[in-house]
Amino acid sequence: MSTGLRVLQVASEAFPLVKTGGLADVVGALPGALAREGVELRTLLPLYPAVRARLERAEPVLDLGELMGGPARLLAGEAAGLAVFLLEADHLFDRPGGPYQGPDGADWPDNARRFAALGWAARELGLGALPTWRPDIVHAHDWQAGLAPAYLELSGGPRPATVTTVHNLAFQGQFPAGLLAELRLPDSAFTIEGVEYYGAIGFLKAGLVYADRLTTVSPTYAREITTPAFGMGLDGLLRARADRLTGIVNGIDERVWDPANDPALPEPFDAERLDRREASRRALRERLGLEDGAGPLFATVTRLSWQKGCDLLLEALPRLLALGGRFAILGAGEPSLEGAFLEAARGHPGRIACRIGYDEPLSHLIQAGADAILVPSRFEPCGLTQLYALRYGAVPIVARVGGLADTVIDANDAALADGVATGIQFAPVTVEALVDALERALLLWREPERWRALQRRGMTRAVGWSARAPAYARLYRELVAARGSTERR
Ligand code: ADP
Ligand code: GLC
Repeated sequence: MSTGLRVLQVASEAFPLVKTGGLADVVGALPGALAREGVELRTLLPLYPAVRARLERAEPVLDLGELMGGPARLLAGEAAGLAVFLLEADHLFDRPGGPYQGPDGADWPDNARRFAALGWAARELGLGALPTWRPDIVHAHDWQAGLAPAYLELSGGPRPATVTTVHNLAFQGQFPAGLLAELRLPDSAFTIEGVEYYGAIGFLKAGLVYADRLTTVSPTYAREITTPAFGMGLDGLLRARADRLTGIVNGIDERVWDPANDPALPEPFDAERLDRREASRRALRERLGLEDGAGPLFATVTRLSWQKGCDLLLEALPRLLALGGRFAILGAGEPSLEGAFLEAARGHPGRIACRIGYDEPLSHLIQAGADAILVPSRFEPCGLTQLYALRYGAVPIVARVGGLADTVIDANDAALADGVATGIQFAPVTVEALVDALERALLLWREPERWRALQRRGMTRAVGWSARAPAYARLYRELVAARGSTERR
């Protein structure tokens, strides 16, 4: 079912090639999901060493000359099943460490140049540098791709339609104004209506100003970011462009996250064979050295940051233990939070377990083995861990913000009576409200029939991309149709 629509998505990470968070999961899953909608989506990524290692085939297709301080070219090929364009610019991307930070945890000092180069490569593809594959739409993800719509608009000639998706407004990519010329931005673009943001160059801001359409990853976050409380300084711009902004909830890749077929689990299970989940629960306890207590096993898989409410979790831990619960956390991030969780685990062996680092298989086992997954985020554009929890029969306990509000149905009396509840929501995002939510969870957990009904209901919810991809396909089609009609006028 091909509609002939070609979309180039531009991003700094894509699962399973390179991942620091949910962005990678989304970028990695969208091409497959949209193929089923008849949209051909190819992905432009930087050629990091980790990506090079996974390349199945690639050939140079375009010489980009000297780009931000060194030679660059585009490769086209396939990696981990994804059709990719890769920006080969070794002076920018061929180094150890993460996509944004060096091994010491500090941002790469040349991030402005690195991701401007990515935007520039998208511009070249968008303007038709490859006659064999010219996209109808260039879709930029987050600040790292934010200059792509700007470069395309500023090129002044015919260009493809553009979309910017905000996965997280907290990361904006701001760099000194003095880089303007080096980043190939004209002086005329350095205005409030352009790339200027409080005297600096704003990459995300540029993406929000110049793209034809804006999306974010849940309807609630789409509303929240037009308010000062969640707008991170960009709410004015987002209010002005609210008619261009839509929220589309993320899906999950149901092939990667399938409890009935997951190599990280000791035994497969599904909603009909929920009793087999016990094997994962036991495996998780043994792996983490946790006792089998009289209360539920609560767990979290997260970046350790203020956004994710990790400090609230730490404060709630004594109460969680007093309720008879046990707690497991897998995460990496702010050193002070890493230290605090490690210390909590040392103080309560058998009751609290902490694994610092990034461990994809363990993240699957946690979803399969925990009774409940805690997500006390202060803001959450969408959130994926609560969706994995739903699929894996771990009851999500979430703050009522952003995508968490849109994807979990609170087990209040009415929802329980109607059999539609899938988890627990709490508000406001405070320690007290979190502890109340833990208490509510405990009461439900003590009634195994009710708890199982909650698990089953979550496991049968449609959280895959097939429920969400049509919204992106519709957006793409509307956009191309709208531009067609303006061009004809
Ligand atoms: P965010 O993108 O804001 O970090 P999401 O919930 O959208 O939040 O996505 C986080 C993704 O990263 C999920 O796939 C989650 O399982 C994964 N993840 C986070 N921390 C870890 C970790 N320490 N080890 C393994 N996976 C992790
Ligand atoms: C961001 C957000 C998260 C979202 C993810 C994928 O990292 O923090 O809420 O799920 O992007 O869209």
